[in-house]
Amino acid sequence: MTDISPYRNDFPVLATKMNGKPLAFLDSGASAQKPQSVIDAMNALQTGGYSNIHRGLYRISQDLTSDFEAVRAKIANFIGANSDKEIIFTRNATESMNLIAHSWGRKHLKEGDEVIITEMEHHANIVPWQLLRDEIGIVIKVIPVLDDGTLDYDAFETLLSTKTKLIGVVHISNALGTVNNIKKIIGLSREFNPEIKVAIDGTQSIVHSLINIKELDCDFFAFTGHKLYGPTGIGVLYGKYEILETMTPYQGGGDMIERVTFDKTTYKEPPYRFEAGTPAITEVIGLGAAIDYVQNIGMHNIHAHEQELLAYGTEKLASIEGLKLYGTAPEKAAILSFTIDDLHISDVAMILDQCGVAVRTGHHCCMPLLQRFGIEGTIRASMGLYSNKTDLDQLYDALVKAKEMLI
Ligand code: ALA
Repeated sequence: MTDISPYRNDFPVLATKMNGKPLAFLDSGASAQKPQSVIDAMNALQTGGYSNIHRGLYRISQDLTSDFEAVRAKIANFIGANSDKEIIFTRNATESMNLIAHSWGRKHLKEGDEVIITEMEHHANIVPWQLLRDEIGIVIKVIPVLDDGTLDYDAFETLLSTKTKLIGVVHISNALGTVNNIKKIIGLSREFNPEIKVAIDGTQSIVHSLINIKELDCDFFAFTGHKLYGPTGIGVLYGKYEILETMTPYQGGGDMIERVTFDKTTYKEPPYRFEAGTPAITEVIGLGAAIDYVQNIGMHNIHAHEQELLAYGTEKLASIEGLKLYGTAPEKAAILSFTIDDLHISDVAMILDQCGVAVRTGHHCCMPLLQRFGIEGTIRASMGLYSNKTDLDQLYDALVKAKEMLI
């Protein structure tokens, strides 16, 4: 295994302190820290050569338009899409999921049609479908989660019906770390009816593993830049081109039209049809730099490093009496979600903060999942490529201290 620990030095914030203690940043699932190369790429654009794109005939606008479109091609290559025309820039993964529900859903769904999602979805893959349900009367069915945090694939098969039009499933649960068997879901769904569309929320999987869209053969794949060591404000929706072609625009405005008159407007081809207004230009350039960065390390090396940390952290936490881990599926990403006895998670988090440990507490935008486990929330330690065993030791020590103080 390649030792990727030196890459930690590329992240300036990790050399800082929090509350006088070395920063143990274990909240990468919420948003990852940025390497210097991403910060530099965005600064360089702001300080030299910035302009709007797709509009100016002058040199710097033309150059930046090429750089911007080159990132689209880079993303297509990174995820193994057939063409850069299948890559839509959005604001974040949430907007990507909303775009599917709005532009595909409104066009192709009618009252009584069924959408299957899972009990472990992020609210971003629940609420957009509920909005559509309230508007046009679609039916939402839910694949249950087993006690260890795996999906109940047998139950899934019973949910498929002649009315099923789309399956929306998270690839890796942000709350539990479970890696869902997307190939199995797509296989079963295609066997049942090849017309059923499958939309993947890849927000966490794009970060922890190598994605190959051709291999997965999903119809949509959504992710965000800020968890992939890039900036906030930029997300991606991949869609099969022949499906994107059938969809109506998400928003109207500049840059998405061919011709506008007061009587009639015609739209550009995908993906531009879905990108109204000036896009997040600097952020796209930053995302391009982030993809260069992780590709240079190698996603398989990042994956191996994180799996080693997951094993180390799981064993370490298991030695804390009263700690209950949620999500023990055999296939897991480097996310540890837990409670300790009946200690209030916010009280624990406050002590962790004083010890320099950054974690997320709460429902992780997955309220139905937490309700399924009969809890309000968990403490979640989520790792990134820069995480190390020292971070996990610091977490362990802080948890022991929290127990001593709170019990
Ligand atoms: N969805 C993000 C998380 O899991 C914000 O924390």
